[in-house]
Amino acid sequence: MCGIVGYVGFRPAAEILLEGLRRLEYRGYDSAGIAVIDAGEISIRKKAGRVQELARLLEKHPVNGSLGIGHTRWATHGQPSDINSHPHVGGNGEVVVVHNGVIENYSILKSHLQTLGYVFRSSTDTEVAAHLIAHEFSELIKMGEDPESSNTAIQAVEAAIKQFKGTYGLGVLFRDIPDFLIAARLGSPLVIGMGQGEYFLASDAGPLAGHTQEVVYLSDHELVVLTSQGMQLHHRDTGKHAPDVQVLAQAESGSGLNGFEHYMLKEIFEQPETIENAMRGRLDEDEATAKFGGLNLTPQQLRRIDRIVLTGCGTSWHAGLVGEYLIEEFARIPTEVEYASELRYRNPPLSTSTMVFAITQSGETADTLAAMRECKRKGHPTLAICNVVGSTIAREADGGIFLHAGPEVGVASTKAFTSQVTVLTLLALYLGRLRNMSYPAGQRIISHLQAMPDAIRKTLECHDQIKDIAQRYCDYDNFLYLGRLYNFPVALEGALKLKEISYIHAEGYPAAEMKHGPIALVDERTPSVFIAPRGHIYPKVMSNLEEIKARKGPVIALACEGDAKLDQLADDVVYVPFVEEYLQPLVCSIPLQLLSYEIALLRGCNVDRPRNLAKSVTVE
Ligand code: AGP
Repeated sequence: MCGIVGYVGFRPAAEILLEGLRRLEYRGYDSAGIAVIDAGEISIRKKAGRVQELARLLEKHPVNGSLGIGHTRWATHGQPSDINSHPHVGGNGEVVVVHNGVIENYSILKSHLQTLGYVFRSSTDTEVAAHLIAHEFSELIKMGEDPESSNTAIQAVEAAIKQFKGTYGLGVLFRDIPDFLIAARLGSPLVIGMGQGEYFLASDAGPLAGHTQEVVYLSDHELVVLTSQGMQLHHRDTGKHAPDVQVLAQAESGSGLNGFEHYMLKEIFEQPETIENAMRGRLDEDEATAKFGGLNLTPQQLRRIDRIVLTGCGTSWHAGLVGEYLIEEFARIPTEVEYASELRYRNPPLSTSTMVFAITQSGETADTLAAMRECKRKGHPTLAICNVVGSTIAREADGGIFLHAGPEVGVASTKAFTSQVTVLTLLALYLGRLRNMSYPAGQRIISHLQAMPDAIRKTLECHDQIKDIAQRYCDYDNFLYLGRLYNFPVALEGALKLKEISYIHAEGYPAAEMKHGPIALVDERTPSVFIAPRGHIYPKVMSNLEEIKARKGPVIALACEGDAKLDQLADDVVYVPFVEEYLQPLVCSIPLQLLSYEIALLRGCNVDRPRNLAKSVTVE
């Protein structure tokens, strides 16, 4: 939920830290700060607001030094403010810390430290970590340990983190120990970049691009010591060990805006290509099925699966709901989608022949990671459908399927959703063909999938019309999104998009469900977005739409090209190409993504960095 960077080497640290924070800003942007050590002095610059505010502060008050840490924050404890921003100082300034995670027992630790005379300036759990490390450090010195020895510092950090309950990704500097950066991980990701005479620390590989391709991902209960001359890994249980060095793929090309005004719009328009990437090499036309390289389960093992659980959060949960319908329709395997935060603690009666898929764009969502670990602990084959290679969930899963959608920078997920749905369609095809699906049926699905990139390209042509519609509806305060069967998840997803970037209240419902209560909300000030492409229950959807119109509710309808009836019924109609019902989520979600984007722009919202949110929710 926050982004951490660190640098130790021979170059000025400040600009490297600042650029790293810019690349991590999607993880949180309530405040940002850096600490740099130079000749035994810690210089800290930190400020509420985005990284750009910090850059302006550094222009006025530059810092020197080639050892530093930085942080961009999504507030968990303590509101966004200058004083609550990281880094935080411990003791009398001998320790400085940045932290991603939640120290759940921070208040009891804080009370204890206050009785020892430590003075707190902020209301964060991170300041508790800083003072506790400083306290352990001073205790070791009282016992005769060398205050300028890195071993003393390592022991102090180890003594402090043993007392934490919760999660942490920590970066720690000691004022009196030059050329020394220590980091520790439990539950919040950290990756090390290995340079020539310099080492980098970051919450993910983004800030490392351009500096190095050799990286080491920290595991839970690992601590790493970085100096300009090398790194040393320590695991709580196994002690010192050699690093497992990975080579980063070349930085994703096109990770800039490529001429678009916002990352969200760029990623919406990338979807024809990202759908192609999700299918690339995975369509087996000869066998009329799909193929995957990383499921790590044999066809025999997969045939023994008699239940599937799909788990995720937010948009990934919505993709999972589409996946539930797809797998049950094509593979006839009982499937359910569970909110990860619920699954983690609900303890449903799953059998050993239940397979679990964690669906996640970032691969770092704490709720999803925790749910996946719980399922693995119980012996279920647990796979990941994920976009970020090297992410924690991707590395800890028993296998999985990557989206290959490229970096999704906009906080509102768009291309990841359609790629997740594409992958789930391929999975349903594969599982179906392992069971009772016929060869011709498999061929038809492959043919329909191959037509989807062009169908999405054609759908994107509605953008100008969406701008006009957005002008008419940007001042409404409440929306209903209504769809049935495969378009019910699309209704949920469309409502979430509008909520999270325009801050308008919107609710998605199965269209028929609206009669059982929500219709009481309908009046002239409550538009309903009806997802009503042709399908076998189209007449029922029309009835639901008429019920809304009878109560003077404005209606924006998504319809198939040529549907003149909706022209008469709805106030606005956006036409989309006809596609098979089970592929309609790939097409119908596009206008809704654009609608939320255009309305948010008209409302002056920050579409790539909406308030209160972050791209990767790494706290439970
Ligand atoms: C979607 O637009 C939101 N940003 C959010 O709901 C997101 O889908 C959710 O936090 C899950 O993230 P993940 O896919 O990276 O696990």
